[in-house]
Amino acid sequence: MKLQDVNKTKDDIKDMYNTYFYETFKRLDFIAETGEGSYIIAEDGKKYLDFMAGIAVNSTGHCNKRVVEAIKAQCETMIHASNYCYTVPQVMLAELICKNIGMEKIYFQNSGAEANEAMIKLARKYGKDNFGPNRYKIVTASNSFHGRTLATLAATGQPGTPIQNNYDPFIPGFTYAEYNNLQSFIDACDEDTIAVMVEPVQGEGGVIPATKEFLQGLRKLCDEKNMLLLFDEVQTGWGRTGELMGFMTYDVKPDCVSMAKAMGGGMPIGAMCTSAKLALTFGPGAHGSTYAGNPVCCAASYAQISEIIEEKLADNAKEVGAYFMEKLKSIPDVKEVRGKGLMIGVEFNSNIANDVKYNSADEGLLMTAVRPAVIRFVPPLNVTRDDCDKAWEILNKVVSELVK
Ligand SMILES: Cc1ncc(COP(=O)(O)O)c(C=O)c1O
Repeated sequence: MKLQDVNKTKDDIKDMYNTYFYETFKRLDFIAETGEGSYIIAEDGKKYLDFMAGIAVNSTGHCNKRVVEAIKAQCETMIHASNYCYTVPQVMLAELICKNIGMEKIYFQNSGAEANEAMIKLARKYGKDNFGPNRYKIVTASNSFHGRTLATLAATGQPGTPIQNNYDPFIPGFTYAEYNNLQSFIDACDEDTIAVMVEPVQGEGGVIPATKEFLQGLRKLCDEKNMLLLFDEVQTGWGRTGELMGFMTYDVKPDCVSMAKAMGGGMPIGAMCTSAKLALTFGPGAHGSTYAGNPVCCAASYAQISEIIEEKLADNAKEVGAYFMEKLKSIPDVKEVRGKGLMIGVEFNSNIANDVKYNSADEGLLMTAVRPAVIRFVPPLNVTRDDCDKAWEILNKVVSELVK
């Protein structure tokens, strides 16, 4: 639907938002009407280089042909059947995912938060089934982000921020330890702890990659203490970090991994995948969802993941990401450029991230601000060096003007 189809102006649309919406996001000042590859085209024809990619979702670019065709074809045959029926896209996707990331079982969900909810529930049930009623605690990292539902908020290590303020009391059973500090995790675990849950690269927390020693140390700790290692790969999954999953860049296999965002090509889908050890934990009635694993979302995801694998987009993320990261170091006022593959954070010496975000959007480049001094780039995984050069030009101009 475009403006012309509904006979409205841009101001009409903005007024309608003000009237009807809970605006929990401050929106950029354009209407995203068309998506083409790495670009969003607005109502006035202006093109925006989209290095935000729908918050790390549009990894094969906007309206990728293969994804679009898959959605259209599935819509014409079966849109929704429910999980009481066998459907082909669901199981084809299950096999594609499990085989390519070396996991044994999958449970589909509708979003990242839901995938994490499923992972938390699974860990609790595994603990109680195998070790008794008190074995339900989970240690997560400070500065983490695991979602906005009440359990994933409790898992999120950001007390005192608008993300968590006023939503207490949180469900019990979560303790925070310091990210990249193995000793802190060792100290936080006690005899009731069943799992440790971390992001391989903290995304919303400021794009902070885990160290290899940290994740390998967590694996050893979990093995020694009969605990589960849970990775939240909602943001790092499916090529973003330069391998299909972030855990593959660290050579550490989790017992359970959650995923969402990039896997759906823009359709709402998430999943949690487990090793064989957890295969019997969920049985009939133990968990469920009306929409999860919906045939249209699964068909889109099958196309999206096939495209990521066959077009070797993780390799492109590694190669172009390294090029872009190096180039970004020459932007004025930069304190640090960090990340993995095409998940890149730029930290400035001053708290200019929001100004950089809005001024860059005015100039035609999209990104997110994840901390007062940190912007994040998560462009489509098929971006070129040329796209990165264009992004650099805009960013360089915007930051130079801000800090002059
Ligand atoms: C690491 C991580 N986990 C979970 C979530 C929540 O995902 P969703 O917004 O799909 O619920 C996000 C979203 O940004 C995320 O980055």
